[in-house]
Amino acid sequence: MEVDDVEGWVEATLGALTLDEKAGMCSGADFWTTKAVARMGMPALAVADGPHGLRKSTGDGLRGSAATCFPTASGLACSWDPELAEEVGAAIAREARAHGVGVVLGPGANIKRHPLCGRNFEYFSEDPLLSGQLAAALINGLQREGVGASLKHYAANNQEGWRNVADSLVDERALREIYLASFEHAVRGGDPATVMCSYNPLNGTYASEHEWLLTTVLRDEWGWDGVVVSDWGAVNDRVAGMRAGLELEMPASGGLNDARIVQAVRTGALATELLDRGVRRVLRLVARYHGGAAGAGGAVDAHHVLARRAAAASAVLLTNDGVLPLAPAGTIAVIGAFATEPRYQGAGSSQVTPTRLDTLLDALRAEVGGRATVTHAAGYEAANARERPDLVDEAARVAAAADVAVVLVGLPASFESEGFDRRHMRLPAQHDRLVEAVLAANANTVVVVVGGSACELPWAERPRALLLANLGGQAGGSGLADVLLGTVNPSGRLAETYPLHQSDHGADGWFPGRRQVQYRESIYVGYRWFDTVGLDVRFPFGHGLGYTTFAIDDITLTGGTDADAPGFAQQVRVTVSNTGTVEGTEVVQVYVRGPRAVVHRPDRELRGFARVHLTPGESRQVTITLDRRAFAYWCVATHAWEVEPGSYEVLVGASSRDIRARASVTLTSAHVAAAVAPGAGWVPSPAALTAEAFAAMLGRAIPAERPARPFDVNSTLSEVAAVWPGKKLLATVYAQAMKQYGVAPEPGGAGATSGGSSGSDGSDGSGGGSMVHHGVRELPLRGLVLLGRGKFTWRSLDRLLWLLNKWPARRSRA
Ligand code: BGC
Repeated sequence: MEVDDVEGWVEATLGALTLDEKAGMCSGADFWTTKAVARMGMPALAVADGPHGLRKSTGDGLRGSAATCFPTASGLACSWDPELAEEVGAAIAREARAHGVGVVLGPGANIKRHPLCGRNFEYFSEDPLLSGQLAAALINGLQREGVGASLKHYAANNQEGWRNVADSLVDERALREIYLASFEHAVRGGDPATVMCSYNPLNGTYASEHEWLLTTVLRDEWGWDGVVVSDWGAVNDRVAGMRAGLELEMPASGGLNDARIVQAVRTGALATELLDRGVRRVLRLVARYHGGAAGAGGAVDAHHVLARRAAAASAVLLTNDGVLPLAPAGTIAVIGAFATEPRYQGAGSSQVTPTRLDTLLDALRAEVGGRATVTHAAGYEAANARERPDLVDEAARVAAAADVAVVLVGLPASFESEGFDRRHMRLPAQHDRLVEAVLAANANTVVVVVGGSACELPWAERPRALLLANLGGQAGGSGLADVLLGTVNPSGRLAETYPLHQSDHGADGWFPGRRQVQYRESIYVGYRWFDTVGLDVRFPFGHGLGYTTFAIDDITLTGGTDADAPGFAQQVRVTVSNTGTVEGTEVVQVYVRGPRAVVHRPDRELRGFARVHLTPGESRQVTITLDRRAFAYWCVATHAWEVEPGSYEVLVGASSRDIRARASVTLTSAHVAAAVAPGAGWVPSPAALTAEAFAAMLGRAIPAERPARPFDVNSTLSEVAAVWPGKKLLATVYAQAMKQYGVAPEPGGAGATSGGSSGSDGSDGSGGGSMVHHGVRELPLRGLVLLGRGKFTWRSLDRLLWLLNKWPARRSRA
């Protein structure tokens, strides 16, 4: 279908659709497509998962057809390179078109609030500017190739456990300055075709029916006019969702929710104009992205080359005393099962079936050719965290016999997945022991860490070099070889802080929640916490080395000083010089420190960055523009971005803690201090995150956590298993899901209470399997209707609830 006059076609089609058809347009035909209307010549629109490669479902569990697997967002973010993210987005779009897919479900712009969120690998950063700019770039790449993006998961979905029901309690400043800001940058900078609302409630209202979130902020304030699509099964009250601005329910609920929309229009509970508004948006989306003209796609080789470049650009050199780049001579021992069985992406809906898979061992051997001998020992089992002292001993022997040892350790696949969170921040004990043993066996040891989020690295100061490989995608092995050998000079920078200990995080006492998650640390997320509280960290946000060195100096600030003046901006100019002997790229980072006269604020906040590529001895002047927003905070009295009058310090450096140049500017503004608690004098610390301070930030008393009984549509299967019929129900659904996804049941079966016995212990090697286990236990009862393809109705659910609530708790052991 080719449509020249989209608006004309939309109006003509809308006018010709019956009420039933209009309601039908607001949900899918199945799991992955919208409904076609044959008599109108209207095709279906196909969607498929991203975000770091296409997962076009083959209908076989979570498997997708082969596609290029790029580094996950957590890796790509370390490139600090929007141009690269855009190239990756464009490549994914070309593959999507070749499969007739019109919308790719990604990128994810959720903030890494805490290192243990199971899905951190799918997210970019703890910082909203970096996250939002990279998300915008990926969206621009997808959409410039004619494929729509779906920016997800909007909003405040920062843990996987209990994601369907956990109410995120977030104060207004934290929402605006951190959690929404990431989406705002992505929406304004990328204009995604769709935004996917998240599963969770936010401040008591489900995201899927949150009018303030879906309409007031997203459309009225940010000027966006695309389609909001539900995360799969995220609908709570369909009619409320329709009113709030949720256009498209996915997947299909077998017509059951469409019927509710029809009913609501008939009774006047839903205005026809609201339905029409939603249908118009869906029709525009279909007209634009239905993917009728499949692209040339393919380009398997070229996309693999891009994946290799992206993998190398994502790697972060954390320490190096000169041992890297490796000399291709003598004997190089490559230790670690990940060198032959790579860990290169996370588990869950984003899991790509790669077109090919490079390993570090093969790549290194190919690159050094006959110049060096490359030996290998596994050191651990790739798929799990099992203790294997014999493998450690063997690895130590192989390392001792080599000139240099490269040890690859990290998080096994079963630790990182959608659907559940990591239980602790450590590597498997087996991996820590391996590092210790190899360090003892060979003084020339390089350690490479693989994973999608920060880990505790107690031995970090001892290797001669430490490299973070992230989750590098299908070419992660070859990209890593390029960096180790110096074919590529690493220029990655950390997109999240590496703390010394998990408990150092501000959010740690408040993560994860179950029925409720209190974001007590408010705006103090990541380096905003560490740098304000003044805690030592293992590696600061923005840190990363290369094989050359840079100087940053000669700072000047020019521009207006009246922050209220139209077009106000400050230009930050610095000179960057390559002071080393090889060409390389510096990432210049600009942080702003506010006056803290009116409100409490983080000590410094990233407000701009630029990549500068220089040959040895070369210098260049770099200008970064700071607009009004770079100096502003969100005022909860005026509900607007405000600039405190006073002195601002602009800090330019190579990490949040490596500041090389600084300058100050005094700004004026008409903004007057309002008495908002806690005031400007409030200083964050673990002891300061009191219930009183949090209630003051929320502007209301902390609501009570929802009690487990009486059961309702949002009671989870594990909650209703407290009574006998619920226990039976859980067992039945569990058995069906195991069959449908081809997953082995956990040892404890449906009733296992470990919260992921196989998952975080890594005993089954399959994050995807654990996701299914958790998904069933944490499924709210309404999920039986939403995912039941029309077979289990709302009325059946009412009856079930009646039975469950009637059942006395004391008979639960029957
Ligand atoms: C995930 C989304 C994904 C969707 C479709 C959901 O469970 O949260 O990110 O796009 O499934 O697979």
